[in-house]
Amino acid sequence: MPLRYSPYDESLWSNPWPVYKRMQAEAPAYYIEDLDCWALTRFDDIWQASMDRKSFTASYGTSPDALFLSRAPQPHVFLFMDPPEHGKYRGLIGRSYMKDKIALIEDHVRGVVRKLLKPMLEQGELDVYALGSRTALELIAAFIGLELEEVLQIRGFINRFYQRESGVRGTTEAGAEAFAEAHTYILGLIDKYRKQRPAEHSHIVSWLDAEIDGGLSDDEIFFSLFAMVITGSDTVPFATASCIYYLDQHPDQLAMVREDPSLIAGAFEEAARFDQPTNLLGRRIAKDVELHGQVMREGQSILFLYAAACRDEREFDAADTFDITRKQRRNLSFGTGLHFCLGQHLARLEGRVMIEELIGSIPEFEIDQSGCRRIFGEFLQGYIAMPIRFQPR
Ligand code: HEM
Repeated sequence: MPLRYSPYDESLWSNPWPVYKRMQAEAPAYYIEDLDCWALTRFDDIWQASMDRKSFTASYGTSPDALFLSRAPQPHVFLFMDPPEHGKYRGLIGRSYMKDKIALIEDHVRGVVRKLLKPMLEQGELDVYALGSRTALELIAAFIGLELEEVLQIRGFINRFYQRESGVRGTTEAGAEAFAEAHTYILGLIDKYRKQRPAEHSHIVSWLDAEIDGGLSDDEIFFSLFAMVITGSDTVPFATASCIYYLDQHPDQLAMVREDPSLIAGAFEEAARFDQPTNLLGRRIAKDVELHGQVMREGQSILFLYAAACRDEREFDAADTFDITRKQRRNLSFGTGLHFCLGQHLARLEGRVMIEELIGSIPEFEIDQSGCRRIFGEFLQGYIAMPIRFQPR
């Protein structure tokens, strides 16, 4: 059978792994003709390309929508910047996410999770994705300096913005409307917070007070804020739900984490590798690059298939096996290079604390398989509903 791959090929979304394996073996630099784009699937290729700041640029966007479908110039936000600008803008908020800073908020994170869990434990059922989503939203709201209701409202716009329709590539008409509504709503918030400043050390204060390049425009603050709500709440719930799912599928490993909760950090890390939520992201090629005997030309796009790389046998022994004791020599679940995940330490803390609290408070649970729902898309994948039942407390 001829090897065919496209990020928009819906027939691949439910089980992309066999095609990823073939791409790694037969066409490690795979050319997608109708998108004039290359796709990398091997761990080391993506690792090296992520480090190569000169050959690949983020300034044309990093999602398939931005790279292939958007006619508009990319917003001026650090996710879509190259050096030296990227460092200046990321640096406005970057310090808050450093490992030592994140370690200081563990008690706060645990408090949020316990508060959310308490009523759910009394019910005898909860949805792991929903718990992950709500936890991530409460925390990112505090980092940004928003009220919870405001961040929930923005998340509602994002959910509509991301809704995909079979046969429609990228953002739908309803999605574009949701984006416009988010824009108006967030500009209103910026106006409000300019008059009534939120807590010091919040991102809003940093963006409002920024002195670089004469200060940030309202639109720049809008895109920064929107991007932080998206990245801060999209993926942690997927990784948390999949961690519970794969532990349940491997009762021996579930027993191990019950016996020794210090293994939970490794379990979350393994879930983020085994079922990588940020399926893929990409760049524009800034100068000709030769790889695996092919010349990738300036102006074409390139996709990094993170999910494929995270299961590359060339990097990981028994890559298709879920193993919470695995030691990763290099980690791509959170990207690498200039655009490595800003929130990786927060994500690990949130995930670990949620799993610790869930496992610690529920001696036995059963996943309601009929209620589980998985979403696939051209760049995000994972369980978006995972109800579990247990003895009420
Ligand atoms: C399990 C959870 C997460 C996963 C798997 C994940 C994955 C990733 C990956 C693969 C990238 C690289 C993007 C690229 O190469 O263009 C990235 C970047 C990023 N992530 Fe995460 N992420 C997670 C959680 C978070 C959280 C909680 C936050 C927010 C606090 C966050 C904020 C960001 C930001 C802002 C970037 C862009 C960094 C830049 O362009 O300099 N992520 N993430």
